[in-house]
Amino acid sequence: MSSKITKAVIPVAGLGTRFLPATKTVPKELLPIVDKPLLLHIIEECAQAGIEDVILVTGRGKTAIEDFFDTSYELEDALAKSGKQELLEKVQALKSLVNIISIRQQEAKGLGHAIYTAQPILGNDAFAVLLGDEVMISDENTPSATGELCSLYQETKTSSVAVMEVPKADVQKYGIVACDSVGTNRWKIQNVIEKPHPEEAPSQLALPGRYVFSTKILSNLKNTKPGKNGEIQLTDAMCALAQSDGLLGMTVQARRYDAGDKFGFLQANIEMGLQHPEVQDQLKKYLKTLAKTL
Ligand code: G1P
Repeated sequence: MSSKITKAVIPVAGLGTRFLPATKTVPKELLPIVDKPLLLHIIEECAQAGIEDVILVTGRGKTAIEDFFDTSYELEDALAKSGKQELLEKVQALKSLVNIISIRQQEAKGLGHAIYTAQPILGNDAFAVLLGDEVMISDENTPSATGELCSLYQETKTSSVAVMEVPKADVQKYGIVACDSVGTNRWKIQNVIEKPHPEEAPSQLALPGRYVFSTKILSNLKNTKPGKNGEIQLTDAMCALAQSDGLLGMTVQARRYDAGDKFGFLQANIEMGLQHPEVQDQLKKYLKTLAKTL
């Protein structure tokens, strides 16, 4: 069994109710952060970490996601005929980034259930999980969040997840870990509590949605009963994993944008717009002028 992580699971079946009406017919994963859909940022993170196969756990109304990574004959033909070579290459490059495999989650039974849906494709190797609401961008010379977790897994052969400190008032939005420090930016996780009340949270270290798991998590998920909100929670299966095989936490270097809500999504667009060579100067000028009027 190789310890190199080559597979990742990305759950994309959610209804995206926080972005209605925009998401009535367009999957939230395809909403753009500047000129790239949210999901493409996540898939680029996978490719950068050496992942070859990405399993999308999809649901009804999400076929546009599969189309996005497929050939678009009319578009490619039109771009070729009008000599728009650069755009054509950009569109064609999407197909060779990773292998996209999709499987449907037929009922919305929670994140744990979504991950378990990918079980028939996962085989016997450890795999990564990336949640699409959190966009993690790393600088050119630093590894991606998933890359850092894959390296930690290869080094320790222990399931490893990203953690980040959040304000006390925000602990109820996340899975929160109880852990002990085991070195710089590394933690041994003892317990995980899904969206605790601030007074009951064991720490302010939250799970921002990047994980590398051994396949043991799948047998745990199989045995996980519905938990918080009546859903099969990934965090419950993680608790069992922490207790039986160990589970490491790592504070990763990438910057995180919470694109799962309206404000975070706007922030991600502005911050990434300020890094985009085509629009950064214009946007900076605009924001400065705008700030004077506020
Ligand atoms: C899920 C997980 C939670 C995690 C969060 C990160 O919650 O259940 O543990 O901290 O993603 O975004 P959701 O935001 O899907 O309710």
